[in-house]
Order: sequence, then structure tokens, then C-alpha cells
Amino acid sequence: MTNRFPPINPRFPHMLHGGDYNPDQWPPEIWREDMRLMKLANCNAMSVGIFAWSRLEPREGQFDFSWLDTVMDLLTANNGYAVLATPSGARPAWLSQAYPEVLRVRSDRLRNLHGTRHNHCPSSPIYRQKTSQINRLLAERYAGHPALLVWHISNEYNGECHCELCQEAFRTWVKQKYHNDLDELNHAWWASFWSHSYSDWSQVESPSPVGENSLHGLKLDWQRFVTDQTIDFYQNEIVPLRELTPDVPITTNLMGFITGLNYQKFARVLDVVSWDSYPVWHTTGSDWRLGMQIAFTHDVNRSFKGGKPFMLMESTPSNTNWQPVPKLKRPGMHKLSSLQAVAHGSDTVQYFQWRKSRGSSEKMHGAVVDHAGHEHTRVFTDVAELGAILQKLDAVVGATTRPEVAILYDWEVRWAVDEMQALGGDRERRGYWQTALNCYQPFWTRGIPVDVIAEEDEFSSYKLIITPMLYMLKPGVAARLRRFVEQGGTLVATYWSGLVDETDLCFLGGWPGDGLREVLGIWDEEIDTLALDERNALLPVEGNELGLSGSYAIKDYCALIHAESARVLATYSGDFYAGQPVLTVNDFGLGQAYYIAARTEEPFLNDFLGKLTAKLNLRPALPGVLPSGVSAMVRSDGERRFIFVMNFNTHSATLDLGEARYRSLISEQTLAGQLALPAFGVEIME
Ligand code: GLA
Ligand code: ZN
Repeated sequence: MTNRFPPINPRFPHMLHGGDYNPDQWPPEIWREDMRLMKLANCNAMSVGIFAWSRLEPREGQFDFSWLDTVMDLLTANNGYAVLATPSGARPAWLSQAYPEVLRVRSDRLRNLHGTRHNHCPSSPIYRQKTSQINRLLAERYAGHPALLVWHISNEYNGECHCELCQEAFRTWVKQKYHNDLDELNHAWWASFWSHSYSDWSQVESPSPVGENSLHGLKLDWQRFVTDQTIDFYQNEIVPLRELTPDVPITTNLMGFITGLNYQKFARVLDVVSWDSYPVWHTTGSDWRLGMQIAFTHDVNRSFKGGKPFMLMESTPSNTNWQPVPKLKRPGMHKLSSLQAVAHGSDTVQYFQWRKSRGSSEKMHGAVVDHAGHEHTRVFTDVAELGAILQKLDAVVGATTRPEVAILYDWEVRWAVDEMQALGGDRERRGYWQTALNCYQPFWTRGIPVDVIAEEDEFSSYKLIITPMLYMLKPGVAARLRRFVEQGGTLVATYWSGLVDETDLCFLGGWPGDGLREVLGIWDEEIDTLALDERNALLPVEGNELGLSGSYAIKDYCALIHAESARVLATYSGDFYAGQPVLTVNDFGLGQAYYIAARTEEPFLNDFLGKLTAKLNLRPALPGVLPSGVSAMVRSDGERRFIFVMNFNTHSATLDLGEARYRSLISEQTLAGQLALPAFGVEIME
């Protein structure tokens, strides 16, 4: 059975390599030089026009596409392609001046002045009309142009607008959600608290630091509205593109785990997912931890569309000027970090930026072509070498990963956990994202592929699903988890599971709510928050079925649970709840459900999830034990398996390939026995 997705654009069945390209900032002589350099750098895809509106429409209604015509033709003449952008990410001054409604209003109700970027009102009819007009002209002009490969909509949509147009749109959204029934709204938001009940729809306002900010249901709905309104703006942008260029795939560049928009929802309307990755390598003392974190982010991008390959739309070939430590990439890191994206499902490696701008805020940001202006630089050489490797990876294009494990990380759960007043401290300490990452680590270190999924995603294809801090259960999720376990799946849930419904109303009758209690066979009665330096410990019960032993540190949170139908695998060592259960397992249908009642540290998660890995016989990308700091990933089309091994250490590492023989896709040599990877080394083998 083939597991291969079609290439991003079937017209180009190769890896894309290139980056943000702004010929609009440079004179035509430079464009020709850019073409020469593009070929030397083994690049083939340029993202053009991202912020080019004032060159495309210098005055209202006066359009000039001639320069872009030349650039598109030059690309074609040089075997290059365009990832062509719509320009809504920033606008010309005339537009803001003539139509101030396009300027975003902040949550304190102050309207922005013209300037910077990524700051339009998504509801403004005028902005929608202007963007739609210019998008139509672009589509009319370049439909059928051989260079046009992918549409890049706007740039990094994010943020929210609190203007009157947006307030009205929000009220309409809320009215629709609550069936025009204010009682339903007041109930869902528990507005009777502090007498905040609404008696008229016109009283509904977006959350504000100088207004309503205590109704958690309102805040969640506002974030949902902001996502929907942004998607709606996107849908408006793409109408002419779909109509005139139905075969050209459309994307917009996302930003990893950023919380402003629900990406799990947004991704559903994209033809292909793309994202911008800016890790600060070499600053934390251990690049493998950062490598793991980026792997997790690539995995969520691959999981957004059920394993469909994504685009690494931006990354830096050198330093990132706005990071606190704009460190240069050490030798090897460019190849490693770029191929890591490919390992986890990217069919492109693209940069911000191709040619370093001469002025303004990003003039010091890493670029393929530096101010020196020629190809004789370290960074250019790195890029060209990577390009040569990407040219050998045609067979990988469209291949994917089908993990047996999923971590449920849901954007809306993140919003809810971030906002709530509980568990002490701040969002960092509550650490929804960090908790998910901690659960990911034991798989990353073993080279076991993982999907990162939303509550709405399909559960049935996994053997194991981990649901860290599943605080909010949207309708039907508990029932679907129940079915998953009943049918033989293994579920691992943690403290702080199933407390509230989708508008943050607590489930009554004992946690975890909505029927999850029966699946887990426990009742979670209350939770203790520890001081920062306080510790308790998890003591495995003698002879427990997983063979766990010793003592594992517990910090931050200890839930006091009752084993109802579950078996107790470990108990607390200290405090007034010493001896009470902290780790349980429940047989439910054909499957099993584990509950970890306290926040544990690395050793426990490593040992516990390691035991489950063995018990469930989860398949790693590469057999055998990986050296510390080395990761392995696989992409397959169902027949061929492409294995990526990556060394995130500053020292070399050796892998034992056992009896197997592989062929390197990079060197085309046979690999067998001991495989030595240099510091930051990477190998791709089949
Ligand atoms: C973002 C933007 C780019 C550029 C880079 C710089 O990802 O999309 O336009 O500003 O950051 O790192
Ligand atoms: Zn607005």
C-alpha cells in the first residue's frame, strides 16, 4: 500500500529550496545577479511579493506589475519557481491614510497609527475589498505562468482587533453560537458570578484590561472568534486565487506553538501547512534539548493535516537578529537543522531571507546573500551544500510518517489552562506545553515517531495516546477516548484531566468528568499545589505489573485520587496523603487506561513510558538504542523507508547498525556496522 502524498504542487516533484525574496527593494541589475546566485546556491523556489504592496499599487488604483513580470520571467528562465505572496501582511501608507478603519484597535481600545506590519483589522470591509482586488489582479496576471508554484497568503497572520467592526462581528458570532438566547450565553459564561449577566447583546464586548477580563468563557469564545475571523479573512483573500488558479496550492505561514490563533483549526482550510522556525541554537548548553523541541514543533505541523508533508517556509541560514542571542550557526548545524525539518515531514527548506536588506529593521538578519554581495561566504557555501543534498531526495518527497503514538496537545486546552486561576504561579509553571513536551521526550530519545494531535483528530489509528493535563473536554471527546480504550487502545492521562467543558464550566459529580472517570477507574477528588522547592515522591508498589521500582521525585502538583476500579501501581511517599495512589491502571474493554496523578520529572516519564513502549512493542525508526543527543526519524511511502539519523551533540556519536545494510542518500555509499556521526552530523539512509 502506498502512503505517499502527491508533491506540494505535482508540477514539481522535488524538494523546494529557497526563501523570501524582495526584488522590490533592489534595482534590476541585482535581480540578474540574484538569478546567477540562485543557481549556484542550488535554490529553486523564491517567495516573492510578501510585503510588496506599495510597489504593486503605489497610489490607489494605479497598479504596476511590470517589475514582478520581469522577476517571474527571470525565475522561469533560470529554472526557478515562485511561492507567490499576497501583500496583505503590510499596506501602503495611502491605504491607512484614506481608510483608517483598516488600522487595528488594541484591547485597551486605542487605534494604531500607520506603521510596522501584521496589524490590519480582519473585519474591515475596505481591507477585505482592497486585498481581494489586488489578489484578483495577481491571479489574473500570473494564472498559467510557469513560475507560479504555490500561493503564500499574507504573512504570519496573528493578533486581534477590538474595533467596533470587530465587536459587531463578535456579537453576531456569539448570537449564532448561543442560538440568539441570552440565557444560554449567561449560563455558558457563568455570568451570574459577580453579577456580570448580560441583559442585551449590545453589552457584549471583547475582553479588555480596562474592562471585562474575568469571564473565562468569554475569553475562550473571543479567542475562538479571533481564529474564525482570521480564517474568514483568509477565505476572502483566496476566493480569486481558487477561481483563477484552481491547481495552485495555497498556504499561509504559521509560527509553531504560538497561541494567538487555533492553528489546528486554521490548518484544516490550508492546502498545505507551512511554518517559520527560528530556534536559537548553541545558547542553552544543550542543543539536543532544543532539537527535541523543534522536532515536536515539526511533528505538530505534520500532524495538522494527518501526516501530509508540510513546508518549512522560513528559517535562518545564519543568525536571527531579533533573538536575545543572535548566535551564528556552528559548522554542520545548517545542514542538520534543515534536514531535521525534512526528517519530520517537510518537503521544503526555505529561508528568511534570500538577500539581506540594506536598511530598516532586519538588515542584520541572516540571509543567503550577505551585504558582501557574492557567493564566497561561509553561509552561502552551507546553503549550496544543503541544496545539493536536497536534490538527491526526490524519493522522499511525499513520503510520510505513521506513528503508533500520539500526544494530545490542543490549542483550546492551552488557552483554557493559560487563563485559569488555579495551580498557582503563572502559565509557565502550569506549563501545559512543557508537560506535553516532557511526555514527548521519552519517545524522541528512543527514535519513536509521535503525532501531536487535537481533540477533534481521529484516535483510532494509534496504539497509545497520551493526554497531558486534558483540563477541558470538548463535546464528544471523552466518549471518543472511551471508545479508543474499549477497542484496545492504551491511554495515559494525568492530573488535571476532565475538569471543565468547552466554555470552562466545571463538570459536576466528580473528576475526571464526562464519563472519563469510568474509563480511568479513578475519582480525582482534589489537588495539592506544592511550593517551588517542595518535593514528594512516587513509590512503585512491590511487584507492580510494569516492573517499576525505586523512588521518583514529584513536584508542583499532587492530585488526591481514589482507585475505584483501577489497580494502584504506585503511591505517594510523603505528606498527609502518603500511601495514597499516585499511579493507576484500569482495564477497560480491550484496552487499558493509566492515570498519573502528580507532576513527575524526567526519570519517571522515561522509565514509565519506556515500559509502555516495550509492552506495546512500539516500532522505532531505527532498531537499537540511540546514543544520547542523537535522534532518528523515518519517512516511508509504505514500501521504502528513509531513515534520518541526527546528532545534536557537539561531539561525534557512533550508532550500531547491527546486521542491517543501508545505502546513504547523501553519499550514495553503503552503510553497515558502526556508523560514526560527527558533531552535528546527519545521515539519511534507506
Ligand atoms: C518572520 C517573518 C519574516 C521575518 C522573519 C525574521 O518569521 O515572517 O518576515 O521578519 O521573521 O526572523
Ligand atoms: Zn477590527
